Amino acid sequence: EMAQKGGYSHFMLKEIHEQPEAVKNTLSEVSDIENIVSQFPQFKRITFVACGTSHHASLVGKYLFEALLGLPTDVVLASEFEFSEGAIDPDSLVIFISQSGETADTLKALKIANKKAKTLAIVNVLGSTATREADYVIFTRAGPEIGVAATKTYISQLTCIYLLAACMGKNRELLDELQQIPDYMKTVLLLEEDIKEMAAKYKDAQDFFFIGRGFSYPTAMEGALKLKEITYIHGEGYAAGELKHGPLALIDDDVPVVAVVPPGKSHDRTLSNVEEVKARGARVIGLGSEDDQVLSYEASDMIKFPSQIRELISPLLYVVPLQLLSYHMSVQRGIDPDKPKNLAKCVTVE
Ligand code: G6P
Repeated sequence: EMAQKGGYSHFMLKEIHEQPEAVKNTLSEVSDIENIVSQFPQFKRITFVACGTSHHASLVGKYLFEALLGLPTDVVLASEFEFSEGAIDPDSLVIFISQSGETADTLKALKIANKKAKTLAIVNVLGSTATREADYVIFTRAGPEIGVAATKTYISQLTCIYLLAACMGKNRELLDELQQIPDYMKTVLLLEEDIKEMAAKYKDAQDFFFIGRGFSYPTAMEGALKLKEITYIHGEGYAAGELKHGPLALIDDDVPVVAVVPPGKSHDRTLSNVEEVKARGARVIGLGSEDDQVLSYEASDMIKFPSQIRELISPLLYVVPLQLLSYHMSVQRGIDPDKPKNLAKCVTVE
């Protein structure tokens, strides 16, 4: 097992560090994706269906498809699909995202959707059930993922979604920009030592909030899910603008807030939420551009990203330090992050 871990103490850590490679390999799928897109009829709406981390990739898909393609886009949890299929019609493309291609809820939803619309599965496992049942299939090239908590497969799913949007929108500029993601990701991974120290500072908190708006909302959700899965600490991902409608009542100096604040449209408004939670005593871990002096000033701890990473592509990079933060808190709390209690890599029951 040590050999399989390639010198890393856990599969999860190895898989986090494999992410630049996973993006690179998935980017090489572009010609397959172009080919699939050339077979598409004119779709009028998109619905994403998935569970868990794959659901968060779907949420990024919604913001991206709406921003780039102007197509109405829904996101439905696979376990809710049978109660919410009403809006699907023959002009819809229903996109299923699944690492394993075997999740029971997702397969059930796929069966229902196949009767009503065209279906596309974005899957990491060759030959899995979802790849046999969907009309179109795109493979993420993350390689096998052993850690129960999804990391590199999430990044590969996102890469596929960005490629799909770029191909559907004939957006050359975005395709070029995506080529730079592996290098940016290597830069972000260099933050690990700082994040490990941060983990030691925060690992005894009992509740966390993760906040973001727009493209950063799914990143906040995924950061909170990683925390719950492998540290057993309660973490809630929240749209920053919703804090004032309830959760603000829970904020005090015992509840750290992780704020995802890349440069762009959502920046100023999320920053005002940072000020709100600070006024109630919260320690804030800020994720933002290296030249964001206001955020640096407001945050107790700052995770700095290259300033070229704009909001639209930030989900591919801003989630990486959050994976590392949960990983190190998990290890420091004496937990095996590869095998969290009560969870399975692939859930084959509804
Ligand atoms: C399980 C795993 C999660 C995963 C989810 C969906 O709960 O523990 O990491 O995100 O299933 O799995 P899928 O294979 O459909 O992406």
